[in-house]
Order: sequence, then C-alpha cells, then structure tokens
Amino acid sequence: MKSAIRFNHVHYAVDDQVILINITGSFYEGEITTLVGPSGAGKTTLLKICNGLLSPKSGEIYVKDKPIREYPPVELRRFVGMALQSAPMIDGSVYKNLALPLELQGKQLPENQAKDLLKDVGLSEQFLHRNSRDLSGGQRQKVSIARTLVNRPQILLLDEITSSLDQVSQKEIEELIVKINQKYGVTIVWITHNLQQALAVGTYTWVMMEGEVVEAGKSHLLNSPANERVKQFVKGEMG
Ligand SMILES: Nc1ncnc2c1ncn2[C@@H]1O[C@H](COP(=O)(O)OP(=O)(O)O)[C@@H](O)[C@H]1O
Ligand SMILES: [Mg+2]
Repeated sequence: MKSAIRFNHVHYAVDDQVILINITGSFYEGEITTLVGPSGAGKTTLLKICNGLLSPKSGEIYVKDKPIREYPPVELRRFVGMALQSAPMIDGSVYKNLALPLELQGKQLPENQAKDLLKDVGLSEQFLHRNSRDLSGGQRQKVSIARTLVNRPQILLLDEITSSLDQVSQKEIEELIVKINQKYGVTIVWITHNLQQALAVGTYTWVMMEGEVVEAGKSHLLNSPANERVKQFVKGEMG
C-alpha cells in the first residue's frame, strides 16, 4: 500500500520535555486513519508536524515519498489541509471565509466554485451570504471543512472536529468526511476522542499514549487490544 505520509523514527521535544517518541509508520493513501488516546498523548502535535506547523527534532517524514522539508511551506499547506475543533472564522459572510485561503495567495474564488464547495458539505447555496456569526456549531464545522477543500488538498488532517457538536451534527460530519474521502480519494487523518466514531469511520487506527504509538492497525483493534494499557484505556472510554 502507498503511504501518503510516512514517519521514520520521529522525535519531538520542547526544551527538555519529550512530546513524541520514536514515531514510525504510515498513513496510507486514500484511507481514513483515526488517532485516539488520552489527552496530552501527542496527537495534535503529530498532526501539526504533518503540515509543517512544527518540525521534528529528529527522524524523517515523507509526504508522498518526498521529504517534508523539501516542500515549500505554502505548497505543503495547500497539499495538506487541516480543520480544527474551534473552526475559526473571520467576521463576515460564509463566502468571504471560503475565499480566504485563496485571497491569502492573491487569488479569487469564483462564486460558482464556492457554491460547489457548499454542496460538497451538504449546505445549500443560500448559506453563501450568511454571516459566519449566525451559523450553528454543525454548520460552522461544515463551512470550515469546505474551506479546507478550496485548495484541493490530497491529505486532510482533522483535530477533534465533532467534539463540541450534538449527536445529529456529529453523524452528519462523519458521513460528510467519508463522502469526501470516497469522492476525491483524499487521505484523512482524524483525531477523535470518540472510540465509536473511530470504529465507524476509519479503516486504520493509531492509539497514542505519552508520546508513543502503542498500538496501530485496523480500527477493530479497539475491540480487542493486545496492549494492556490500551485495554484499560478502551475500557475506560467505552465501558
Ligand atoms: N508548545 C508546547 N510547549 C510545551 N509543551 C507542549 C507544547 N505543545 C504541546 N505540549 C505538551 O505536549 C504534550 C502533547 O500535547 P498534544 O499534542 O496537544 O496532545 P493531545 O492532542 O494528544 O491531547 C502535552 O503534554 C502538552 O502539554
Ligand atoms: Mg489535541
């Protein structure tokens, strides 16, 4: 299987504090991989390394077989999109928010393309001229996802994007991400604290603890973990 992102003995630390320890493995091309584990395990740090927001202390990372440091930062950000739980928006219309990534590159977003993006995330084109302030949590997250698609990324990093949403919106976002994965073949790496979600949406799962990947494989590993710490973690989360 081809790797979209491959880690080879990656370490990360801030001053004396070790945050990621010896990360080795691949996020496979076109697949959905979920990252789970207790708070503080290093999941967000690992994602930030994947789009160049942070650089490892040692080890190699390859994005589509090319060392990550060989990508110009702007190209890397286009290639590897990221959506966050907070779905940050600027005050103004949804259209203005969708156009932002291109505007920063001195380009414009044609209105019909903006409408297509909304369609991709299940929002009607009427939303285009709504103010971002007036969106519900779920709608806001959908706009945030649409905005990451503007650059047609090949890899999408999602950090707890459904954590503050109600059940119905959570399900909608799950379906939407699976649809985007299938329609565009985008590789998805998805941090979630919801193990049911990890089982439902992903093919692969990495379990992280204290900076290490302690277990990784097909998501159903969560049903019968081999590692004792993972067993305890899953028991605590799923009862
Ligand atoms: N800039 C930073 N400076 C110091 N410590 C940090 C910094 N960023 C993250 N950490 C620490 O790194 C560890 C992993 O954090 P994080 O990647 O956010 O974990 P997770 O997303 O799994 O909750 C935590 O102990 C956190 O406090
Ligand atoms: Mg985090």
